[in-house]
Amino acid sequence: MATAWWRDAVIYQVYPRSFADANGDGIGDLAGIRAKLPYLAELGVDALWFTPWYASPLADGGYDVADYRRIDPAFGTLAEAEALIAEAHRTGLRIIVDIVPNHVSDQHVWFQEALAAAPGSEARNLFWFRPGRGSGGELPPNNWTSEFGGPAWTRVPDPDGTPGEWYLHLFAAEQPDLNWNNPKVAEEHESVLRFWFDRGVDGVRIDSATMPAKDPELPDLDRRHPPTPHPYVDRDAVHAIYRGWRAVADGYAEPRALIGEVWLDRPDRLAAYLRPDELHTAFNFDYLNCPWDAARLRAVIDRTLDSHRAVGAAATWVLSNHDVTRHATRYGRADTAMGRNPAQHRAPVDQALGTRRARAAILLNLALPGSTYLYQGEELGLPEVQDIPDAFRQDPIFFRTHGADIGRDGCRVPLPWSGTAPPFGFSPPNATTAPWLPQPARWSEYTPQALGRDPDSIHSLYRTALRLRRADADLHTDLFRWLSEPDGRTLHFRRGRSFHCLANLADEPMALPEHSEVLLASTPLGTRDPALPPDTTVWLRTT
Ligand code: NOJ
Ligand code: CA
Repeated sequence: MATAWWRDAVIYQVYPRSFADANGDGIGDLAGIRAKLPYLAELGVDALWFTPWYASPLADGGYDVADYRRIDPAFGTLAEAEALIAEAHRTGLRIIVDIVPNHVSDQHVWFQEALAAAPGSEARNLFWFRPGRGSGGELPPNNWTSEFGGPAWTRVPDPDGTPGEWYLHLFAAEQPDLNWNNPKVAEEHESVLRFWFDRGVDGVRIDSATMPAKDPELPDLDRRHPPTPHPYVDRDAVHAIYRGWRAVADGYAEPRALIGEVWLDRPDRLAAYLRPDELHTAFNFDYLNCPWDAARLRAVIDRTLDSHRAVGAAATWVLSNHDVTRHATRYGRADTAMGRNPAQHRAPVDQALGTRRARAAILLNLALPGSTYLYQGEELGLPEVQDIPDAFRQDPIFFRTHGADIGRDGCRVPLPWSGTAPPFGFSPPNATTAPWLPQPARWSEYTPQALGRDPDSIHSLYRTALRLRRADADLHTDLFRWLSEPDGRTLHFRRGRSFHCLANLADEPMALPEHSEVLLASTPLGTRDPALPPDTTVWLRTT
């Protein structure tokens, strides 16, 4: 029988460029990942999600896909991807790949053909080309702005070289938006899905999932008071796309999972994506953006579980990814709200506090009903690198805001694996080039080699927690019950028959409730006076 593995899997996000470099060119690659499969299996995760590994000029870290059916040569080959999928499966790990429906790279053959074709041509109708406003067409067709800063339109020359039409890009100029009103776009994406599902991929993560459907009138937008429906976010028409994808996914003997990147602040609108004939799960950005505060977290947990229950979908719990500030850093600031808050990047960080809370948070996440996402390096307690020299920065957000927003490079620094100096085992000893983003010298403390020896390290905590979670039948039921009234200090709930999770977010220690066994605590409990310290989560068994 097919299993609904995505309902409670622990999924590890691999950012291939920064995971492990086997050939020494300073860029992570598939051979590097393959060599680390035993590490991932031993960590105890169930699945891997790869951010885009396709042929790409990497204008936006691979979210500018030039060819979905090829692996970027910096990462390896299609044959290596196939071998990696097969070997991961043998190791017991499922595979999720990233699909980016909203846009392609400006180097994609479709866009190159569109540039060479005339205005009004079929080739241009795969994108959003429009004449400019103003007497000579010198102004963009409307006032939309790019999510990365600056205008959402770029003007191109006509094939004869004179200034011509503009094209829409809701992200970088190298990421032209596709026109989903053209049936060829849906056809091509369904074929891409089959291409990867046929290679054994178990699911896809859908990038910017609320944005592909556009109002064809392309009206001006008042960003501060956007209308409903919005001209490009969460339009009803987007659901037809995912119903088509679901039919493709369900056509396999073991149905493939669809996971949406759905940033919406209305839980009912998010739940609509999780109806039985659409996506299986979506990232929980409400939770990711919630401050480290018991009352707020409780409210988000309740809202999440209620809205998901209404459509029979499983929740997800996620705190970090390649787009937000690593939570070991965020949680050490005075203001812990928002996964990414560029205004906070110079705020003081109490790293010990951030790490302590990150340890408490993982035991909370893993005890909640649903699936959990881990972002590579969080199992090492990696902090955000906030002081990357400008000359190394690569994120288009940094460039398009002229440095006003430092962007997302700080959570994408290549992982440290071993040793006491860069590249910390990220690249082999005979590497010719330094890692593509510089690693801080202090990262010698964060390698699995250094942490693995210490039974109290965050790495040991993750491994133990994942092992216990996998083996505990109570955590694989849907049963969830709060055991305390909202008190603004603690989160205390029962899972299944006898598993209790208690998080103390107050400034004071608290007495442990009645229990028969302490399974695991995020900071070691004293043996003589086993009170629960502040910013600590404990897993208990009752009889
Ligand atoms: C969301 C991705 O996670 C992010 O990294 C990317 O820049 C945008 N979508 C655009 O594809
Ligand atoms: Ca490499």
